[in-house]
Amino acid sequence: MTSQFSKKSEAWSARFSEPVSDLVKRYTASVFFDKRMAAFDIQGSLAHAEMLAAQNIINAQDHADIQRGMTQIQSEIEAGKFEWLLDLEDVHLNIEKRLTELVGDAGKRLHTGRSRNDQVATDIRLYVRSSIDIIVGLLGDFRSALLDLAEQHSDTIMPGFTHMQVAQPITFGHHVLAYVEMFSRDAERMLDCRKRVNRLPLGAAALAGTTFPIDRERVARNLGFDDVCHNSLDAVSDRDFAIEFCAAGALIMTHISRMSEELVIWMSPRVGFIDIADRFCTGSSIMPQKKNPDVPELARGKTGRVNGHLIALLTLMKGQPLAYNKDNQEDKEPLFDTVDTLTDTLRIFADMAGGITVKPEAMRAAALQGYATATDLADYLVKKGLPFRDAHEAVALAVRTCVDKGCDLSDMSLADLQKFSPLVGADVFEVLTLEGSVAARNHIGGTAPQQVRLAIARARQQLAT
Ligand code: ARG
Repeated sequence: MTSQFSKKSEAWSARFSEPVSDLVKRYTASVFFDKRMAAFDIQGSLAHAEMLAAQNIINAQDHADIQRGMTQIQSEIEAGKFEWLLDLEDVHLNIEKRLTELVGDAGKRLHTGRSRNDQVATDIRLYVRSSIDIIVGLLGDFRSALLDLAEQHSDTIMPGFTHMQVAQPITFGHHVLAYVEMFSRDAERMLDCRKRVNRLPLGAAALAGTTFPIDRERVARNLGFDDVCHNSLDAVSDRDFAIEFCAAGALIMTHISRMSEELVIWMSPRVGFIDIADRFCTGSSIMPQKKNPDVPELARGKTGRVNGHLIALLTLMKGQPLAYNKDNQEDKEPLFDTVDTLTDTLRIFADMAGGITVKPEAMRAAALQGYATATDLADYLVKKGLPFRDAHEAVALAVRTCVDKGCDLSDMSLADLQKFSPLVGADVFEVLTLEGSVAARNHIGGTAPQQVRLAIARARQQLAT
């Protein structure tokens, strides 16, 4: 019996006796978001067709027709002239249908030995791979901008904090370099994830493989994959790589968010360590004096949605039996939004790093409050022979006296300081200076300006390779 839908567009309409409602059609369709993978879908199809021809599964004429049709489709899409139809559910069926319109039977032969299940898994991997390459590049640009900022301030002294209390003096350059470390681990993590992204699912077909004499290695080579996925069931159902990518992305945003929090605090007039260029800030509709650090605040907020996407994907996968299930269609929007949020955020932050004005006087004034050099005084006494615990106690008493008097350690006279330990000599005042304190931490990973400059050089070299 010829189905009443035989003229309809569904690829499977012959099997059905009733169409889906418009609501169900909209509910099950993915074309309005997965069309962003169109270029990868075409790339995957061309590699598949090339292999089918090389294996004599389709003939050379069909192959040529498919290539010609796909070239036209690609330009129609680029020109915004391609008509995306909800009726055709997703990017794969839209492109295949148009190909058949353009080249006839060759278009219908393209899907030989393939299923949308291995096709979509291939498209997503190509998409994630290219996104990783973009993100790693942006992380590099951002780190380079941070290194420039660190270099300008390798001698600028600020208070370092623990528990948000003044702890010890550090250089601003050293502080910035802490973020360079985070973002360089992020790039490493993305590249590690790329290894597991870069395997070819195509050839798994629906779930069990195909009866045609396909050559999967050939397709893998053509698409630049390092290997094929080794189990057809796993190939069509695996989304681990997307989860790993979102996890790495969530960590990038977490680092961005920590930095944002500091930028917001530093820009608060009560702190006044930095100013951020106007192009990253906005005013208030009611308070004329306001200049708000909107970009860091919003980035801190967007971290929540990227973390949410990771949880969405983990939850998407946790109950799925093998192999492909339609649930997997829900992998795309979280993934796409993660990519969009990351790329926008990293681009803006790379630019914003150059728009930060540091206020060294405010940083210095803050470092002079809170007895930031107390540890230096304790270390000084240890070097004169006092056990560290005794030195710690002597300095604690000295600090308490200063707190009562409302002065700094360096404001005390030599005679006053000697009341806490007879080991104190006239050379003590050198170690109580901020410059002396930072310069003394002169080992790899320390805050001494000399180490900051070495660390910058190492990071630049790493970025260049
Ligand atoms: N749009 C689907 C997705 O995003 C493509 C694969 C559909 N496969 C299927 N058997 N319905 O996952």
